[in-house]
Amino acid sequence: MASQTRTTLSVLLIPLLLSLLAASAQAGSIAVYWGQNGGEGTLADTCATGNYQYVMLAFLTTFGNGQTPVLNLAGHCDPPSGTCTSLTSDIQSCQSRGIKVILSLGGATGSYQLTSTSDAQSVADYLWNNYLGGNSSSRPLGSAVLDGIDFDIEGGSSDYYGDLANYLSQYSSQGNKVYLTAAPQCPFPDTYVGPALQTGLFDYVWIQFYNNGQCQYSSGDTTNLVNSWNTWTSSIKATNMFLGIPASPSTPGYIPPNDLTSQVLPAIQGSSLYGGIMIWDRYADVQNNYSGQVVGSV
Ligand SMILES: *[C@@H]1O[C@H](CO)[C@@H](O)[C@H](O)[C@H]1NC(C)=O
Ligand SMILES: *[C@@H]1O[C@H](CO)[C@@H](O)[C@H](O)[C@H]1NC(C)=O
Repeated sequence: MASQTRTTLSVLLIPLLLSLLAASAQAGSIAVYWGQNGGEGTLADTCATGNYQYVMLAFLTTFGNGQTPVLNLAGHCDPPSGTCTSLTSDIQSCQSRGIKVILSLGGATGSYQLTSTSDAQSVADYLWNNYLGGNSSSRPLGSAVLDGIDFDIEGGSSDYYGDLANYLSQYSSQGNKVYLTAAPQCPFPDTYVGPALQTGLFDYVWIQFYNNGQCQYSSGDTTNLVNSWNTWTSSIKATNMFLGIPASPSTPGYIPPNDLTSQVLPAIQGSSLYGGIMIWDRYADVQNNYSGQVVGSV
């Protein structure tokens, strides 16, 4: 009897141990930017792939300095005429899969800057009432409550973004947590979100290792990328950091899927802050099936 019990136990335990090992070897997530190309498919279909745990809606291109904020989702819908409210059910379907849907502020083009602490406070209030847990008669995406705000600040100035992060984080006490994320460039410190990141208030930081010659991957050479990764992970307090990479082979810094899984990920996955990868963007991922090829190794 005793030996039978032991046999039964090991039959049960070995698969459990193996699955725990597999889970710890693939502990990362994939984040993706959606919204800047009407040809990338719907938000609901993006989430239904099962490849992503975070989707950033790109971008709120105008805000701050007293301007009326403007959402730009390229060919997907037209915020001024109210057609983006149809995204409410897509957002909710993503969230029902456990995917966090986050509004991204900024982007490479746009008209944004914060001019004072009170400007930062009014942008925070606007975001809370129009995209998060507050209310307003003109919510651009309808009644869906987004999970957080992403800072993809690539122009203007670095001023008052720390205040914006602070005001947004104070809203977390009024119900659902407001996740704060950021997409700095890989040269450290980042010109625009560097000071805000010093607040330590950010949950996830997806560092852009592309369009940045001095710290991106270049054909077989991981040295600059790994040095930069180590600087980021030893300098900034955050819950997790993600390797931001392009899904398009024509974007500088592109890492072929085989190189990612055999050379780059093994060099950074040992970091306790490693959270996974961020992909720019969903359109290029559709074209190249990048996430589909690497999802098992992230
Ligand atoms: C808007 O939200 C506030 C705070 O949650 C709440 O007190 C108020 O009743 C809401 N107003 C409407 C019209 O839902
Ligand atoms: C993407 O690549 C994966 C891995 O090779 C494959 O299983 C999957 O079918 C591909 N998806 C598409 C849409 O081509």
